[in-house]
Amino acid sequence: MQTSSGKKHDTFAEDVLKGLSAQPKFLSSKYFYDDEGSRLFQQIMDLPEYYLTRSEFEIFSTKTNEIFEAFTKNSKEFDLIELGAGDGTKTAVLIEYFLKQNVDFTYSPIDISQEAVGVLTTKFKAEFPDLKMKAKTGDYFRILETLKSESARPKILMFLGSNIGNFSAEDSIAFFKNLRGVMNEGDLLFVGFDLQKDPRVILAAYDDAQGVTAEFNLNLLRRINRELGANFDLEKFSHYAIYRPNECAARSFLISRADQNVFVEILNRTFHFNAWEPIFMEISQKYSLEMIEDLAENCGFEVSENFFDSQRFFVDSLWKVF
Ligand code: AVI
Repeated sequence: MQTSSGKKHDTFAEDVLKGLSAQPKFLSSKYFYDDEGSRLFQQIMDLPEYYLTRSEFEIFSTKTNEIFEAFTKNSKEFDLIELGAGDGTKTAVLIEYFLKQNVDFTYSPIDISQEAVGVLTTKFKAEFPDLKMKAKTGDYFRILETLKSESARPKILMFLGSNIGNFSAEDSIAFFKNLRGVMNEGDLLFVGFDLQKDPRVILAAYDDAQGVTAEFNLNLLRRINRELGANFDLEKFSHYAIYRPNECAARSFLISRADQNVFVEILNRTFHFNAWEPIFMEISQKYSLEMIEDLAENCGFEVSENFFDSQRFFVDSLWKVF
């Protein structure tokens, strides 16, 4: 086992210690995305039950001109900044269209993963040789501060894919307030929210028949084994998903199937799990339009326009600074 000295590992170890010492136990879903986790998430996005990606892609493909008009209402020059850019499939639709219009824009994908940004940059450079790209890796807010001084043009920030749904209510307010802090009047924020719908449809998206979501959750235990020297027996945990319509939230758990101890070498700690004890893994918050309006208002924004897919499963909501 490799010992950890880097900041990344220390934070991971500290967070695992905090989560497994807590009552009830929890692990942070932000650690799902190691190489295998990212591969599993790609697989999730193609699952028949996982409607989110397809719905948002439909919005980008069918409302391209409306989105373009809304983005360029006040300025034909802007910096398009995508937070947590992922594989850029949806954004490519917008970029292709924008490049054909008479607008001057740069595209800045920002991600904590250098690898993700590198792959996206290579892909977009090949696909769109005329695109002006300024990719950045690191902390969103620090980078946005630098972009603020680098360019006087209006910024359009994008936070897509219902990534906000994986934040707690408090964290999502803090996140949007921080974004507001680095935005100027005239800047826009474009956010993807998964909407309330038939609870069965939502639950199925987090409890797919092929068990990919189960693997996605269990993979975090595998990561803890590999990176922190733990001895989780994956056979002794199973994935369990719920959706609570009164809270509009899907939650994922790993359930300990036996009374067992797990040793984590880097922490030099043994954690006890009772039979059927849950580890809370992830929240996927769903929204009503009222919730979105309240959230925008609470954080210093105003909803300017909403873009829906044909089933109204998903919304990309355009916010202006208030
Ligand atoms: C990344 N995020 C928006 C996904 C979601 O839908 O909450 C993560 C995910 N978890 C299980 N399936 C997908």
